[in-house]
Amino acid sequence: MAGAGISTPSGIPDFRSPGSGLYDNLQQYDIPYPEAIFEINYFHHNPKPFFALAKELYPGNYKPNYTHYFIRLLHDKGLLHRIYTQNIDGLERLAGIPSTKLVEAHGTFATATCTVCQTSYPGEDLRADILESKVPKCPTCKGVIKPDVVFFGEELPQCFFLYLTDFPLADLLVVMGTSLEVEPFASLAGAVRNSVPRVLINRDLVGPFVYRAPRHNDVLELGDVVSGVERFADKLGWKEELNKLIAVETGKEWFPHCTVVERLNQTKQQVN
Ligand code: APR
Repeated sequence: MAGAGISTPSGIPDFRSPGSGLYDNLQQYDIPYPEAIFEINYFHHNPKPFFALAKELYPGNYKPNYTHYFIRLLHDKGLLHRIYTQNIDGLERLAGIPSTKLVEAHGTFATATCTVCQTSYPGEDLRADILESKVPKCPTCKGVIKPDVVFFGEELPQCFFLYLTDFPLADLLVVMGTSLEVEPFASLAGAVRNSVPRVLINRDLVGPFVYRAPRHNDVLELGDVVSGVERFADKLGWKEELNKLIAVETGKEWFPHCTVVERLNQTKQQVN
């Protein structure tokens, strides 16, 4: 299970971190309260604030980070049953996680739908208008085209309900970078059997890890998500393999937190 906190290392603000979170930085949009920017009724009243924000966040400006590639490595090793993400930045897809293993519970910019005639469009068709600060309009009926991002007040995509079979089958649950504030996604954290270990990799305790008695096999890795994932990869003996995957996928080495000495040694080894 993933939230906006796995994308902050890629430069995308999350929603609720005090000060840096998106909801603390929407003053420049003329909206009555922060969440309105993702509310469907407000969107129909005035789509401009959402499209102004979409221009900032539109996929293509950001790259996956260490955390996304860790999830990709889980898949490469045949260990990823499914990733449920709340993120709409598309970084899981960019990291090479196949759509069959990905549930984008809060939708995606990859496709869009006309709010009047319901015609579906590839998200790419909206890019030019959005980046030119124009509200995309349907060529057929002139209605406003809305990216298939799930707004407050909208149904979740059908694929979200795969959880009904996925979670009872899971033998490990990893929860990363989310405040677990938004339902029904947040409740998935309690949907695995009691015998199943749950690993929380997050700056702070959230959701049932706070308001419920901890389960005997909960593992809490509190702090920076990349450091937590790095420690996890290290315990699994996957650090080298993960760095190689990242180097292949990005064409550059990844030294998330190594010291200068470690980095010099790594470079020296490569030279030798
Ligand atoms: N390392 C560790 N934890 C981090 C990091 C980081 N680098 N950056 C952020 N976090 C943590 C924050 O402390 C917070 O607990 O990630 C969590 C992010 O929480 P939110 O900002 O609430 O994001 P998210 O949980 O994805 O929000 C859920 O709310 O508005 C809706 O639809 C929107 O999908 C979104 C949903």
